[in-house]
Amino acid sequence: MIAEVAPGPLNKVFFTNGGAEANENAIRMARLHTGRHKVLSTYRSYHGSTATAMTATGDPRRWPNEPIAIGVVHFWGPYPYRSPFFSENEEQESERALKHLRDTIVFEGAATVAAVLIETVVGTNGILVPPPGYLAGVRAICDEFGIVFIADEVMAGFGRCGEWFAVDKWGVAPDLITFAKGVNSGYLPLGGVIISDEIAATFSERPFPGGLTYSGHPLACASAVASMQIFKEEGIIEHARMLGEDVIAPGLAEIAAKHPSVGEVRGLGVFWAIELIRDGERTPLVPFNAGGAAAGPMNDVAAACKERGLWPFTHFNRVHVVPPCTTSVDEVREGLAILDEALTVADGFYAS
Ligand SMILES: Cc1ncc(COP(=O)(O)O)c(C=O)c1O
Repeated sequence: MIAEVAPGPLNKVFFTNGGAEANENAIRMARLHTGRHKVLSTYRSYHGSTATAMTATGDPRRWPNEPIAIGVVHFWGPYPYRSPFFSENEEQESERALKHLRDTIVFEGAATVAAVLIETVVGTNGILVPPPGYLAGVRAICDEFGIVFIADEVMAGFGRCGEWFAVDKWGVAPDLITFAKGVNSGYLPLGGVIISDEIAATFSERPFPGGLTYSGHPLACASAVASMQIFKEEGIIEHARMLGEDVIAPGLAEIAAKHPSVGEVRGLGVFWAIELIRDGERTPLVPFNAGGAAAGPMNDVAAACKERGLWPFTHFNRVHVVPPCTTSVDEVREGLAILDEALTVADGFYAS
């Protein structure tokens, strides 16, 4: 069932208990397939809490765990609103981010690089939607150097972006897709790696030296079968896409127009972020990785939401708008109305 909805040549699945194990095994497959050891992943990413997945992670959760695994190199992905490449538009950002990736590969030694691992749409670290051309460019660079392209869709996949897989939005097929969470709506622990025919062929002659007692656990898989059937019967992917296009996008645009503290809104499907700023220079409402008193303004915004019955996910200077794929239009509107009110608290910190 998963192969049926996965892009083109991805036809086999290795099941795990969750997302970190999926990335861990995908990296091992890439290493064994290429005979190379390095993995390139981005700053501003989360890939899970096992050794290599945590090492690949590009956020502060990695720091206290270091050193763990070896052979991971971080690079910058595209982020038009705070461009690491001083870009002025999405087209430039895409071009420059691809050049940076290619340069990183060349200077690491392309023959040492097994995989490029990216979140198709970065989740916890900002709902960073890749600009047009970026994913196709990553595909082309990986092809040029014989590198395995791993798309981490643990958060972005199974409906959240209004598609079965986020890569579908851009018509790009990676070599490996990792998934978990949405595959069975989280009812039981389940994740996995969807494998291209070419990589699967590597392991048709020799075994993949990995395995998990609970790999393909029948109960967890049954919950995925049921969940996917309901996705199809009830048109949940289409519903999530509609919520994004018809309700959340216009609702957040209205909110952004009203509140000076809203620097940018971005996302797709039911996967959105509001980036809060404190002045016309895009200074984040709270600093990167702020804790304690420095995080105060964000805590105040979150408290204002909770007082009104909305439980928001906040991260650094962002509020994420990530309702379940099954949320009704009215419920989304109710949530957005609460956010609208709560954001006056953020406006109070804005210095014009
Ligand atoms: C993009 C991404 N990859 C991997 C993981 C790790 O998944 P798990 O917690 O199931 O190991 C997460 C979890 O939040 C995630 O968001």
